[in-house]
Amino acid sequence: MAKEKKTIGIGLLGLGTVGTGVVELLQRNRPLIESRIGAPLKVRAALVRDLSKPRPPLPPDLLVTDDPEKLLKDPEIQIVVELMGGFEPARQYLLSAIRAGKHVVTANKAVLAKHWEEIFQAAHDQEVDVYLEGAVGGGIPCIQSINDGLAANRIESLMAILNGTTNFVLTRMAQEGKSFKEALAEAQKKGYAEADPSFDIDGMDSCHKLAILASIAFDQRVRIEDISVQGIREITKKDLQDAKEEMGCTIKLLALARAHGQDGLELRVAPTLIPLDHPLATVDDVYNGIYVTGDAVGSVMFYGKGAGKLPTASAVISDLIYIARNVAAGVAGKVPAVAFDVDRQAGRRVLGKEGVQGRFFLRFVTLDQPGVLANLSGVLSDQGISISSVAQKERKKGDKVPVLISTYLTSEKSLYDALEKIERLPVIKEKTLVMRLETPE
Ligand SMILES: NC(=O)c1ccc[n+]([C@@H]2O[C@H](COP(=O)([O-])OP(=O)(O)OC[C@H]3O[C@@H](n4cnc5c(N)ncnc54)[C@H](OP(=O)(O)O)[C@@H]3O)[C@@H](O)[C@H]2O)c1
Repeated sequence: MAKEKKTIGIGLLGLGTVGTGVVELLQRNRPLIESRIGAPLKVRAALVRDLSKPRPPLPPDLLVTDDPEKLLKDPEIQIVVELMGGFEPARQYLLSAIRAGKHVVTANKAVLAKHWEEIFQAAHDQEVDVYLEGAVGGGIPCIQSINDGLAANRIESLMAILNGTTNFVLTRMAQEGKSFKEALAEAQKKGYAEADPSFDIDGMDSCHKLAILASIAFDQRVRIEDISVQGIREITKKDLQDAKEEMGCTIKLLALARAHGQDGLELRVAPTLIPLDHPLATVDDVYNGIYVTGDAVGSVMFYGKGAGKLPTASAVISDLIYIARNVAAGVAGKVPAVAFDVDRQAGRRVLGKEGVQGRFFLRFVTLDQPGVLANLSGVLSDQGISISSVAQKERKKGDKVPVLISTYLTSEKSLYDALEKIERLPVIKEKTLVMRLETPE
């Protein structure tokens, strides 16, 4: 049956880790993939930056070029797959492909998180498809599962571990007692972290991915600027030990989006204590987990490899198959890929500090002297913050002692107002570490 249909031409923008994975997986599973599409596929051309770079063996009829026009102007290419990364020229090539009437697949979370409206508006105008499964969660089919599989639900919350590098670092610190520096060095040695790991460690990678997932889950455009971001640089192995001993929790860099009724949306990326028996607490090393709660389905969790050549190629090719089926049936571009409409401005208000209630776990470093606890609890209570637990830990070098305080549900604004006052107390010797606490009261 596949032989009866016209061959669908593919162009790859980028032939790096994921691009070569796509070529390899298409070769490996070609009969299966083509039978699922009902038409043959052919990767006609791949764009690279440096033609002299050594490449793994490629099909002899695949044109490798450094000229984007060779793909963008090839009438035989119906689907362009962007696997270059970065903002430019990825954005420009994506828009050129769309304007040339080509359907696109991208795994580029950065370009999507920043230029969503422009890309989807152009696709809408041209009646072409844009699919993005590889952009969040690597091989985990979370985007279409939320977009299609959970489409009957009002999504209440989405809590996710979306960055493999930070999860690897926190796991090594928790399980092997490594310092942040040692765990990061191991991640770099294993190729899980970039030479400059700031984008991952400081939470921006998770922020980009949360913007995309939350846009789909909550039917409204969530921008990266809407999300408050805190990374994991300040977390020590002692914090992980304390979280376990004092609270029965582990610490994860959690990306969270939560609806507050019909009015508000809470959005953040932050180091968060979660109970050891929470399903996300078992998501270790470079794995990702996405825990979604819908009003009908209850909670579901997606778990798997959040990056890597073949896992990400699996997600990219799932998009390709979806579009190619529609191309073969002559209906591609007729139905928007994501259920929410870029034109629809309505949506929940993004809640700032004033609107968000949460529980917090605070690590103060104070002078070891009588009255300190009374000082701290006095300021917290003046702001209406109720303390759920207090622990004074063994003395550090000098005369300094860590004091751990967990709060009951409190407004974020009250918490930060109290901290501003506390930081000015002479007994406070280091900047206070603030972590979120996602545990029932
Ligand atoms: N790697 C993963 O595990 C993973 C997982 C999920 C999503 N992603 C996303 O997938 C995309 C690709 O990632 P990757 O890891 O495959 O990247 P990569 O290994 O760095 O490959 C990038 C490819 O794009 C080409 N390229 C880059 N800039 C170009 C330019 N200006 N003109 C022409 N070609 C250019 C490069 O050419 P040369 O080969 O000549 O350098 C290379 O072939 C990114 O958006 C990334 O965020 C990756």
